Amino acid sequence: MIQRFENIDSIKGELFLRGDKSISHRAVMFAAMAEGTSVIRNCSGSEDVRSTINCFEKLGCKFEIADGHIKVIGKGYKGFSKPKSELYAGNSGTTARLISGILSAQNFESVITGDESLSQRPMKRIVEPLRLMGADISVNKNGTLPIIIKPSLIKPINYRLQIASAQVKSAMILCAIHLDEESVFIEQTPTRNHTEKLLNLKTEITNEGTKIYASRNNYPKPFELTVPSDISSAAFFIVLALIKKKSKIFIRNVSLNETRTGVINILQQMGGKIEIENEREEKGEKVGDIRVYSSKLKNVSIPKTIIPNIIDEIPILSVAGIFAEGNFRINNAKELRVKESDRIKSLCNNFRKAGLIVDEFEDGFELSGNVSNAETLFESYGDHRIAMAFGVLNMLMKKGGSVNDFECVGVSNPQFVAQINNLCNK
Ligand code: S3P
Repeated sequence: MIQRFENIDSIKGELFLRGDKSISHRAVMFAAMAEGTSVIRNCSGSEDVRSTINCFEKLGCKFEIADGHIKVIGKGYKGFSKPKSELYAGNSGTTARLISGILSAQNFESVITGDESLSQRPMKRIVEPLRLMGADISVNKNGTLPIIIKPSLIKPINYRLQIASAQVKSAMILCAIHLDEESVFIEQTPTRNHTEKLLNLKTEITNEGTKIYASRNNYPKPFELTVPSDISSAAFFIVLALIKKKSKIFIRNVSLNETRTGVINILQQMGGKIEIENEREEKGEKVGDIRVYSSKLKNVSIPKTIIPNIIDEIPILSVAGIFAEGNFRINNAKELRVKESDRIKSLCNNFRKAGLIVDEFEDGFELSGNVSNAETLFESYGDHRIAMAFGVLNMLMKKGGSVNDFECVGVSNPQFVAQINNLCNK
């Protein structure tokens, strides 16, 4: 489906967003693992989280879903039933990778598959470390789906994480919490820590990095949780409001976990007027309300250590960068090449279409020049964050424009167009 976006005057008002996708995935998984009934409020309405729910339904869990509020009847320690068919993770890397950690500890065989994009993404990054824990887990010769997991005797591990990936870290933690003996993980570059927070894991900052301790003591018990609004979805609206003159938006109850707020810190350093109010903590996760006002932006240098924190927001940050003073440049972000699309390629191709001068590197890109005035049809490359980033760019271009295959936005935010229409003054 081609989605058309008009040039808009400004955006104003309150934006209502559903729950954070990363936290929702984990809440669904932990509720499914706990024995008894859990309640998740404001769960993400994304197709990705739906994929996680579908997998756990196949493993014998019951879900009652009403308008974002979910009642989950979990199966308890090793209580899942052998699935009758393969577990389909759709487009969701978080589903495929995290569930692999859980399934490595079960007494039955399971097979995980996914859509075309997920079937090209690297899975060896979880297979190799899970094998070190004794898991009988394999992928095809390209290191991609399907993942096949057979029963095995898993053992605890003392492991230094090799890549800065919350999905790899979480897969290992979820395997480790099936064991009485403690496992220790050492993380050098911080990545999102929702798994640690929701499971109440002990962590310790040392000279070697952050040490994370996990054992069966941390196995989930039934809980009630209200998921804070998704900061990664908010980022598209924040950038639009900053760049469009006379804009002013308000977003309540946004997740402000410090491993996720890099996008706000960078936009503030760029001169963005973003105010945080009513900061509080809910179940270990920081939450607050955000006000955003139109601002004049200038590009800043983006340090290597912040990359995992902003990895999902680089597409929209680069759109902000082209309307800011100076050139936008990003390096140390090779991980972008193995996301829902090769995001470096997707971004560079689309920015060239927009008339910009693009210097592409293996681990990033630099943008200079000016956005053209011509109406442009961008490609989404089937990647939700590319689709939304260029939808925003269309609204900032004189004649508006369109994005091809826009329906992929459902992967994280099916309400994107409706939310834009609610806020915008054409
Ligand atoms: C996620 C971790 C990140 C992120 C993804 C969600 C998670 O991936 O890009 O969208 O929920 O753990 P990596 O851990 O592979 O960097």
